[in-house]
Amino acid sequence: MSETIGVFEVENRVFPPPEHFVGQANADDRSMYTEAEADYEAFWARQARELITWDKDFDTTLEWDLPFAKWFVGGELNITANCLDRHVEAGNGDKIAYLWEGEPGDTKTLTYAELLTEVKKFANVLKGLGLEKGDRVAIYMPMILELPIAMLGCARIGVAHSVIFGGFSADAIVDRCDDAQAKLIITADGGYRKGSASALKPTVDAALASGAPSVENVIVANRCDLNPDMVEGRDIWWHEAMAAASDDCPAEPMDAEQLLYILYTSGTTAKPKGIMHTVGGYLTQVAFTHKYVFDIKPETDIYWCAADIGWVTGHSYIVYGPLANGVTSVMYEGTPDTPDKDRLWDIIERYKVTQLYTAPTAIRMFMKWGVQEPQKHDLSTLRVLGTVGEPINPEAWMWYHEHIGGENTPIVDTWWQTETGGNMITPLPGVTATKPGSACHPIPGVFAELVDDDGNTVTNGGGYLTITKPWPSMLRGIWGDPQRYKDTYWSRFEGRYFAGDGAKLDDDGYLWLLGRVDDVMNISGHRISTAEVESALVDHPTVAEAAVVGSNDDVTGQAIIGYVILRGGNEASVELGNEIREHVGTKLGKIARPKTVIIVPDLPKTRSGKIMRRLLRDVADGRELGDTTTLADPSVVNEIATRAAEGGDED
Ligand code: PRX
Repeated sequence: MSETIGVFEVENRVFPPPEHFVGQANADDRSMYTEAEADYEAFWARQARELITWDKDFDTTLEWDLPFAKWFVGGELNITANCLDRHVEAGNGDKIAYLWEGEPGDTKTLTYAELLTEVKKFANVLKGLGLEKGDRVAIYMPMILELPIAMLGCARIGVAHSVIFGGFSADAIVDRCDDAQAKLIITADGGYRKGSASALKPTVDAALASGAPSVENVIVANRCDLNPDMVEGRDIWWHEAMAAASDDCPAEPMDAEQLLYILYTSGTTAKPKGIMHTVGGYLTQVAFTHKYVFDIKPETDIYWCAADIGWVTGHSYIVYGPLANGVTSVMYEGTPDTPDKDRLWDIIERYKVTQLYTAPTAIRMFMKWGVQEPQKHDLSTLRVLGTVGEPINPEAWMWYHEHIGGENTPIVDTWWQTETGGNMITPLPGVTATKPGSACHPIPGVFAELVDDDGNTVTNGGGYLTITKPWPSMLRGIWGDPQRYKDTYWSRFEGRYFAGDGAKLDDDGYLWLLGRVDDVMNISGHRISTAEVESALVDHPTVAEAAVVGSNDDVTGQAIIGYVILRGGNEASVELGNEIREHVGTKLGKIARPKTVIIVPDLPKTRSGKIMRRLLRDVADGRELGDTTTLADPSVVNEIATRAAEGGDED
């Protein structure tokens, strides 16, 4: 792991919370840390009772049968009653839940009362199709309001949703629906991206033509008037079903451990893992972190998480956290450069956004586009800036701080994962003195330690990041595969959750996340496994063998580089390389399409036959080649280096 840890550079600048901020912050001293250190279960029990309305109080805070956790045992709640009904009942029904903006510029607002009505109606649509508590439903939608309505409609009646990012392929839909045995897919005709309507429904049709026999129905929202084919008896228009649905659907109390959703994420094998989250613990931690990490003041704030709901960030910080806390959120459909490169800043100015949550890759792109873009707009309403998804380099942090935050807005660099459900390591904006590029410290009630290869605790320097105690929003397992859950997260270091990341602790006890230490790449903050891309590459009829690495990229953090060996009889060419790239795009979705495919005569292997990925990464990064003496055939390396220097088939 030293290869990942070794690139660390010391960053000494420290930014204490601005004075104006401390005085008003939801957390402005260290008391929650002290409280949680003394008794973390009692701390979380207090949060659960303060932030959530329970139909029946829980009697045991935590049942921990390592590695299986149950939180708030015996407690009953309805997650949508917490996100909607209780705000309406408290007289806040007219408060806006979502200020939605479509990419073409059309806008809609939805109050808490309106959202509740839509959710009840949609829950009745689901019931009408025979769906019951415990069933699974796949959602494949653009960033339109029907998406949170669909998720909440499922949650209201205990149907687990499994949201599939709209950029994924038909094959990805089949795999996920098969694994979860989803009975229904909720989709839309399309959504607007980069200035035009981009169809989604045909991808669902292709998926269902090739597999996913568990799916009985498809509900289709009409966003773009694309007039998709509707299969008689299977496909149902959203608007027609909703027009006929009753808005009477009382919130049924559910067990705290009721399955809320399954979200698939990439691991080190080609098969994505269905990460499971349950209602009580998940809502407690996302509501807690949303309130304290973003310093949410529901009366006055206009909060914006600019992620896609297809990823966990959107689940926790566009849907469940913000709604539980009763704040007004902005939701945006499209891309940040449509129609112009100041779209985000324009939205912030027009809606007077107070919190912005985005990814380092986006910040690096904004840096490239130039300071003149944000300078066209008044960004002075911003109070907290968040980042998530990958390590943020100090330059990007400083740019965010200076040009978006006006040098007096706290930045919260939040480390967490699909598996952790909510923020785990992050500054608290009114408490923590931040350092550019450091996620600082675990939140109150979360305990992290670095360990070395042998599992010994590291108190200064580099190591593997582990979590030492259960936390409320932890994954409850991998859908259908408890053994894989144990093996993946709990077997590398005994009694510890191993997240897959390397990190470093500096002399002041600050944590610096350094990226994955396994074969998982991070492309623009999205997790993609090398194995998944490799299996899509060898699926192409001309490819005999493939090796995939993530090379450094100024904007996307990492870029996918695929090395392929052709089957006999095929001539290497730029056209063939491009065809192979596109094949991966079709198999997995555009986000997993390699930036470069390099056709090589052979791959560098150790004597035992293992592909030398480090060397391939070095080649891709254009670095000096390392020690090659363990190569089966050292001449291969020179050949690869030459091919790489020629640029492969990059576009
Ligand atoms: O490597 C870490 C990186 O993203 C991984 C989790 O990816 P995913 O489950 O898709 O969730 C992304 C959004 C929560 C982690 O294992 N990561 C996430 N946030 C950070 C980060 N790396 C460094 N700093 C972060 N703030």
